[in-house]
Amino acid sequence: MTHAHYLDACFLGPYAENDALLEKLVVEFLRDHVYWRRNFHPEDPPAIATHAAQHPEYQAFEARLRRELHQLSASLKRSVPFHSPRYMGHMVSDLLIPGLAAQILTLPYNPNNVSEESAPVTVDMEVKVGLQLARMLGYPDDPERPDCAFGHLTSGGTVANYQALRLALSLKAFPVALRAAKVPGLAVLQDDWEAFNLAPAAAIDLLLKWQHWLSAEPIAQRRRWQARVQAERLEQLGLIDFFAAHSQLRLPKVLAPITAHYSWSKGLKLLGLGRAQLELLPENRMRLDVAALEQTLDDYRRDRQPVLMAVAVLGTTEYGTVDPVDGVVDARDRSSANGLGFCVHVDGAWGGYLATLFRNPDGSLRSRDEVAAEFSTFPATEVHSAFAALGRTDSVTVDPHKLGYLPFGSGAFICRDNRAMSLLTEEADYVFSDPKASSYMSRFRGLGQFIPEGSKSGASAAAVYVTHRVLPLDSEHFGRLQAQTVQCAEAFHAAAQNFAAQMADYAWINVPFPPDSNLVCLAINPRNNTDLSTANAFVRQLYQALRCDSALPVQVKEYFASMTTLRPDALGAAEMRRILIELGLDPATIGGDSDDRLVILRHTLMNPFAIDRHNQLSYIDGYFEYLARQIRVLLPEHGR
Ligand SMILES: Cc1ncc(COP(=O)(O)O)c(C=O)c1O
Repeated sequence: MTHAHYLDACFLGPYAENDALLEKLVVEFLRDHVYWRRNFHPEDPPAIATHAAQHPEYQAFEARLRRELHQLSASLKRSVPFHSPRYMGHMVSDLLIPGLAAQILTLPYNPNNVSEESAPVTVDMEVKVGLQLARMLGYPDDPERPDCAFGHLTSGGTVANYQALRLALSLKAFPVALRAAKVPGLAVLQDDWEAFNLAPAAAIDLLLKWQHWLSAEPIAQRRRWQARVQAERLEQLGLIDFFAAHSQLRLPKVLAPITAHYSWSKGLKLLGLGRAQLELLPENRMRLDVAALEQTLDDYRRDRQPVLMAVAVLGTTEYGTVDPVDGVVDARDRSSANGLGFCVHVDGAWGGYLATLFRNPDGSLRSRDEVAAEFSTFPATEVHSAFAALGRTDSVTVDPHKLGYLPFGSGAFICRDNRAMSLLTEEADYVFSDPKASSYMSRFRGLGQFIPEGSKSGASAAAVYVTHRVLPLDSEHFGRLQAQTVQCAEAFHAAAQNFAAQMADYAWINVPFPPDSNLVCLAINPRNNTDLSTANAFVRQLYQALRCDSALPVQVKEYFASMTTLRPDALGAAEMRRILIELGLDPATIGGDSDDRLVILRHTLMNPFAIDRHNQLSYIDGYFEYLARQIRVLLPEHGR
């Protein structure tokens, strides 16, 4: 495993080893902020008297403040120790100092990224973060290009996924509105079905034609046509009236793999399309089954059922598996050519930053062999093809607060072609303004026009921007961090196999499927047990030792993992059977009155110090030793 020493300065560290660095930065830039305030109008005298601190009320206030802060600080000691390499539970780890320092530095300026008026500096940074992420994904990232990508930050992956749905619906419904408004020269679409099922690129093309046509009209006519089209838009009419006006059309479906995060269900409810429009597709070894997608598309075309979007997941929440993005975009292209167009969105909330492993500093794609050079099996050919196809998708979600190692409150939505975004603006004047009339940066400085939120943190944007500047999003910088997570997952996988052999007298253990990225699951069944419920009860008991328990001080816990399940409806009956049989479980014991799923342990390998090279220490080995102790205690009869 290669080790870059500059990574030593990246994190606060498990022992807060870099406290001096962070403290120095925080104090230095807090002072800097103080001078900024004082130098704004130095002629203004201090509004708070210099002797105010001697007043009893001031002192009483300070005493109360201190007491509450002490209490807060004391109770926060019960927080989950995400920073520790002993923590392998959920998708969170230590924080990157560049982001932490930039966020703390920016907080007292309190920029509001709703628009440049309240955030003249950090709005620009947020738009540039969108370009940084676009480059990582293989989207056009030159703002001089008319079709340059655009991205913005959100509170997290849930809202980014929601934004993807919002944009896809707008793009889908707009050609129908244009047709209904009978705009001269644009009425080339045969019927509503054709208008509603254009490929995303064709819908953007039509939008541009409309903007071009409109800009050539005299001002009075322009306003009239604007109002006329606006009156036909789904955003104006609402779902009920829009679909009543276009009886040929049905609510469109969203196709997502069965492992998709529950934010997709939330998003469909929020849009008013309803959970019933979310169609969950089967998987093949926990990756979306492209044949099933193709079959569904064929059926839908026959039944005249429109599709809003197909979702591919880049690093599933439960298993870290990577869907065949390439297969999904191929399916979209084929389907669009046959008259059933839709958007492809990649939910890379978890795995998005792994794309840095696949990018050279010059922005070009690395070959599979180049990427594979520092790993034992990563990336599988399918995984490389999935990352290589990102540039062909329509939009992506990436969470800086997950594998970006930044504080919570940072997700990102990126779309491949910025021009579609004009459909989301609130002001009709903005909606149809000629994109050529203003520069890319100036157009997007009114961020609040485009995003689901209103006021939002400029400090988060500064954190992400500075981090991406210090650690550019390629294999030689940010990618080094991601490489460590994958190497740790490979080490964990190898250790799990040794562990299974070593514990065979006590339990039958396996890794249900080799990890695609950096999440590794472990299935455990007490030896000679054939009953699924008994195995599940045992793993739940083990999990008690591995979960965070708010009633106990965290220090009594040795290691943290999380728990998930494997279900036949997600895995497929044959795959489920294989896993149960490998564990010595009788497949006949699944379902019925007993458990309908297999409970397993789940490990997120993202802590940069899980393998501590400085002390020649592996917390992964430590974890397995701990697990072995727990199993021996729970199954004493097997050891005799
Ligand atoms: C694949 C995926 N999508 C979306 C989300 C939602 O992200 P957030 O919790 O940041 O809203 C998650 C969170 O775990 C996820 O794993």
